[in-house]
Amino acid sequence: MDSPRSISSPEQDAILAPVIGHDLKRQVLVCTSKSCTANGSEAVLEAFRAQLIEENLLYCKKNLEGDVQCSHCGSVGFCAIGPAVLVYPDGIWYAHVTPADVPEIIESHLKGGVPVERLVRKRLG
Ligand code: FES
Repeated sequence: MDSPRSISSPEQDAILAPVIGHDLKRQVLVCTSKSCTANGSEAVLEAFRAQLIEENLLYCKKNLEGDVQCSHCGSVGFCAIGPAVLVYPDGIWYAHVTPADVPEIIESHLKGGVPVERLVRKRLG
C-alpha cells in the first residue's frame, strides 16, 4: 500500500508556483484540439501571445509583471464553430476567432473590459 502523499501548505505552494501570488487580471484560453487547430487556432494563439508580449501584458517566465495569462486548452464543445477562445474571469466564450480578431479582443475586452459581442457565443455565470 502506498503511503499517503503529503500535501504542502499554501505558503509552500506559493513558492513553488509564483503565479499563485501574482495579481492576474485575465486568462485567455485558446482551444488547440483537433477541429479548432484545423481551423487555424494555433495562429490565433500565436497572435495573442505576440501582441500580449509586444504590449508587455503577457505573464510568463520572461515577464513576471504581465497581468494576462494566455495558453492553449482542450476541446470545449465549440468544435464546429472554432477556433474557440475563452476569457476568464469573465466567462466569455468566443467562436470563429481569427488572428485578425485578436487586436480587437485585446483592446476592447482584455484592456477595456468590453467583450467583442459579434464573436461571443456563450457566457458563464
Ligand atoms: S476542438 Fe476546439 S472546441 Fe472542440
